[in-house]
Amino acid sequence: MDRTAQLTARPAHREIAYDPPPPPGSPRLAAARVLERNWTGTSTVPSRSLYPHQWSWDSAFIAIGLRHLSPLRAQTELETLFRAQWGDGRVPHIVFNPSVPLDAYFPSPDFWRSSAAGRTAGAPRTVQTSGIVQPPVHALAVWFTHLADPGLSRARGFLTGMYPKLAAWHRYLLHRRDLGGAGLASVVHPWEQGMDNSPAWDAPLARVVPAPGRSFRRADLDHGAAEDRPTDLDYGRYVRLAADYRDGGYADAPGAFMVEDPAFNALLIASEHALARIAGELGATGTARHARAERLTAVLLDRLWDPASGMFLCRDLRDGDETGARAGSRRPGGARRSGGSVLGGELVPERAVSGLVPLMLPTLPREIAATLVRTLTGPHFGLGASTRLVPSYDLLGESFDPHRYWRGPAWFNTGWLVERGLRRHGEPERADALRSALVDSALSSGFAEYVDPYTGGACGAAGFGWTAALTLDLLHAMEPAARSATAEGGDRP
Ligand code: SER
Repeated sequence: MDRTAQLTARPAHREIAYDPPPPPGSPRLAAARVLERNWTGTSTVPSRSLYPHQWSWDSAFIAIGLRHLSPLRAQTELETLFRAQWGDGRVPHIVFNPSVPLDAYFPSPDFWRSSAAGRTAGAPRTVQTSGIVQPPVHALAVWFTHLADPGLSRARGFLTGMYPKLAAWHRYLLHRRDLGGAGLASVVHPWEQGMDNSPAWDAPLARVVPAPGRSFRRADLDHGAAEDRPTDLDYGRYVRLAADYRDGGYADAPGAFMVEDPAFNALLIASEHALARIAGELGATGTARHARAERLTAVLLDRLWDPASGMFLCRDLRDGDETGARAGSRRPGGARRSGGSVLGGELVPERAVSGLVPLMLPTLPREIAATLVRTLTGPHFGLGASTRLVPSYDLLGESFDPHRYWRGPAWFNTGWLVERGLRRHGEPERADALRSALVDSALSSGFAEYVDPYTGGACGAAGFGWTAALTLDLLHAMEPAARSATAEGGDRP
């Protein structure tokens, strides 16, 4: 056991009774063991070594798998996260575990200083968190978790408790984070979008002056191979952006990095559809939320679809805008709001997996879905041809690297999202093949954080939370009972 694992040893808790218990030696048991090891008593760490706290989108993906083992634990996972929600509605990307030593992870609570620097934004006083956010997968996770055991959910008032929190979270993103003015949420740090060192960020990040290397110490390199992780130069820029945001009191004013991202917004739209279903379950009408999700899908197409690439791209709101004060300019894709102004910016000409994630959206026009499938299976992503998985970046791109974090390797959460998209848009055979490949490579890699898209070789942390959880979800979907539930609509919004 490494040092961090010793220091963050699990508190004593009763053995969890799974219903039904996973058969001995089964893939389900192997995945359950990872989730067991990463469980802290109230939430699940992504990795005992590399990420020893609670991460926002990790917890959402983890709940989606955990619900098949223990609906109660999945509900608790999400409730724990939302106990750290800020007064302005934001859900922080990390909730710190006070029993973990400060030097186990950087940037640590003394960097973010959330309760002091985030006071005006309503940061909680007693829990320490980061001040940035991560993709809003939560309403989707809450809805799926409810469906795993509706009786338990109703008895505990799970949806009643979560609904206002989720609504406040979406409100924050759709209003305070609409920095471009067109209706989409912007991210203000690459860590917010979650694909930290995607080549799509290279140009927007190049404008950021890196924090000097001597001003911080990376903890990630104690646990991960340097060639699998972002570079020091990238880290310097991440630190600068986070420190500037903190020093501005975490206020959402225009800053050095402002990007509209397709995956972040697609997840927000999918979650808005899920929130509409939650409202329906609580006896309200979800019609307005479904309608808003459809409108946002149209804005996503207007702002981020690139016909020449056959996929969605990121929009860098600062591109061509040296002063950051270009409000009011008109550019293609910038549909002006009545009485408002729209930042044009430019699309970033890099093909990253983020631009395929909107395939999961239910109201995507048929020809757009068909084009996305062609791009996914064509030479740039190679699904079903040069690879069985979905690489995180263009196989033909100059910056492609099969091992370095989000610059090429295949990740399990994006694979899971694309699998859903293929199934939704009438590609069940391709979806089945991807599902089998995801399960095979999760098992053979020891539930790695990410894998080489060609060889399936493990990269990053081993025993990774969402890899295990999403494997459980895919295995569950392969069971005959789940297949018939899916045919009836099941949990698939
Ligand atoms: N993914 C980032 C990290 O590596 C921040 O969440 O720490």
